[in-house]
Amino acid sequence: MDVPVPARIASHPDVYPPSEDTYLLLRGITLRPGERFLEVGTGSGLVAIEAARIGRVVATDANPAAVRLARRNAAENGRRIEVVRCDLMSAVRGPFEVVAFDPPYLEGPLADTLEAAWQGGREGSDVALRFLEDFPRVLGPSGRAYLLLSAGNRVARSTANRCFRARIVASAPLFFERLDVLELTHIDLR
Ligand SMILES: C[S@@+](CC[C@H](N)C(=O)[O-])C[C@H]1O[C@@H](n2cnc3c(N)ncnc32)[C@H](O)[C@@H]1O
Repeated sequence: MDVPVPARIASHPDVYPPSEDTYLLLRGITLRPGERFLEVGTGSGLVAIEAARIGRVVATDANPAAVRLARRNAAENGRRIEVVRCDLMSAVRGPFEVVAFDPPYLEGPLADTLEAAWQGGREGSDVALRFLEDFPRVLGPSGRAYLLLSAGNRVARSTANRCFRARIVASAPLFFERLDVLELTHIDLR
């Protein structure tokens, strides 16, 4: 998506604020008018709010403070998004043409505090792996998923490459690592 007409985004001490990875994800996403868009782990809601300029948007987060903040930010920007509190996309049914996730991608134990925004388990891949397992359930047959991964998320990367048609659509160096946005589509088995 074009980056950005910045939405007015309020912050909250318990919610991950828009950061370089947020803007990289935005840059990688292609969303066409009218398409149904799901953002998993929306945080402050910025990506979902930008998407709502173009398509119909549902967003999720496990953090109740993020759900409240994303709803408030959407309302203050005059955008309609449905924000659901759940684990990944467990409470959501598809199909969506586009699904996006900037997961917790750093090595560190899973948590239910603010650290859950960046600690993604073993080599930072555990949450991304669960996303890879479940998103095909909600993605339409010719849909696209956008998943941000760091160079260190080797297990998640090899799973993405093995199970989907994958290509890198945006990249950026960040401190000591490289972040990529992968576009994933169903493998056509015909
Ligand atoms: C790196 S932050 C990204 C936030 C936002 N999308 C952005 O780009 O600014 C990851 C987000 O995923 C949420 N999250 C982490 N694990 C989750 C899970 N299992 N289910 C739903 N949301 C989760 C966190 O609460 C956090 O808001």
